[in-house]
Amino acid sequence: PDRMRHHRCNDIAVIFQDPMTSLNPFLTIGEQLIEPLIYHPDKSLIQSRSKARERAIQLLDEVGIIDPDSRFDCYPHEFSGGMRQRVMIAMALITKPRLLICDEPTTALDVTIQAQILKLIKKLQQTHEVAVIFISHDLGVVAGIADKVLVMCEGTIRETGNTDSIFYRSQNEYTKKLLAAIPSGPKKLESRVKPENLIRVSHLKTHFNDYSKQKIDGKYSQIKAVDDVSLNISRGEILGLVGESGSGKSTLGRSILQLVPNTAGIVNFGADQLTGLSPRQLVPWRRRMQMIFQDPYASLNPRMTVYETLSEPLLYHGLANRENVLSKVSELMDEVGLARGHMRKYPHEFSGGQRQRIAIGRAIATKPEFIIADEPVSALDVTIQAQILDLILDLVESHNLTMMFISHDLSVVRYISDRVMILHQGVIVEEGKTEELWANPQDPYTQNLLRSIPIADPILERARIENI
Ligand SMILES: Nc1ncnc2c1ncn2[C@@H]1O[C@H](COP(=O)(O)OP(=O)(O)OP(=O)(O)O)[C@@H](O)[C@H]1O
Ligand SMILES: [Mg+2]
Repeated sequence: PDRMRHHRCNDIAVIFQDPMTSLNPFLTIGEQLIEPLIYHPDKSLIQSRSKARERAIQLLDEVGIIDPDSRFDCYPHEFSGGMRQRVMIAMALITKPRLLICDEPTTALDVTIQAQILKLIKKLQQTHEVAVIFISHDLGVVAGIADKVLVMCEGTIRETGNTDSIFYRSQNEYTKKLLAAIPSGPKKLESRVKPENLIRVSHLKTHFNDYSKQKIDGKYSQIKAVDDVSLNISRGEILGLVGESGSGKSTLGRSILQLVPNTAGIVNFGADQLTGLSPRQLVPWRRRMQMIFQDPYASLNPRMTVYETLSEPLLYHGLANRENVLSKVSELMDEVGLARGHMRKYPHEFSGGQRQRIAIGRAIATKPEFIIADEPVSALDVTIQAQILDLILDLVESHNLTMMFISHDLSVVRYISDRVMILHQGVIVEEGKTEELWANPQDPYTQNLLRSIPIADPILERARIENI
């Protein structure tokens, strides 16, 4: 153990996915950075505070924290997600390790910030001469950063080789399946968009009180999560909604479905206006519009079996009675690809992909016309993600659904959407038919977003990184 500790202190450092859980919220960034230098178990290596501070500031500067001198005394919550991840990297490098283990270091970040962090890790790997083990499920990211790749499945190594041979000349069935599942390129299905608006949103605003700031003149300042958004969705259309974390995607979705109070604006469903209706008046509309969430585990009731979960909306909205509910639930399970034999099981007995199938089954149970899917595949592995995306496309077709598909993953959005909308700080900066927008983005924000998407093809990906 002593020798192990020696290696942990000196030779190996780790960066995790979520910097907020690995930083101590009660200590300043600077204090956390210099800790390993001023409390080193090997007394001869202990440095003075001022020297440690100097080195910390130099590292903060190196990882791209602007004005590191004054940032030294900030607390983690004062930093953005990307800045926190930079601090984590500085912390990992401060003891001059020889091996850096990065465990999904950019999975929680937006593509634009991800691009900066990956560039930084690559640069530091070269200038500091450290070896990096980079753990990721994103094959695009791997294609760009790795020299050698190791494919793992169920605890065993399936294949190992240099990056190009894995991507272009894979020998292993599992690797091939993985590579084939990556959503790439344009939507393959023909669009079934009808020339009739189902959803019309005009000048929608959803503002929240900002309780983290002091009141001014007796009023809280406002978080403008959705700020004057107008849009139409045609019957049969899948509209993709893209934007960085915090841009207001979920709030816009929830506002359209009247799940949060709207500050201003009008939402129409067909010929009828939803805004201004009371919760009771909204009940019949609830059947006609549904939502699917990112995390089915949180949105499913853990104490209800699949049967109970699926029969509840059917009975509540009078779409089934005691006699035929069992057969209706069975049909639903067939439709979303769940074995009927699993009817009496609870959510925790299923895998993530199967749970998402249950949630999708519940959403389509009431035969809705409009569904908002909020990051429905973001928590799933790429092979499972491909299956769920295809299920969604099938259901949109067979149920004549209209859909708003929210995601921060642009490749997924391109694969599924007829039209795309880019949201930035509560405002729509650009919208257009998917392939037209991809080919010719107008807004600089959109251009930057599209440029930042990693491509799961080593040669193309290296060329892309060169050019940004
Ligand atoms: N109920 C609420 N009360 C106060 N502020 C809120 C509330 N819901 C959302 N916000 C704020 O509104 C902004 C937009 O949040 P929203 O969840 O819509 O973003 P998002 O685009 O869905 O992000 P993500 O990709 O991380 O899911 C954020 O600043 C958030 O803090
Ligand atoms: Mg969201």
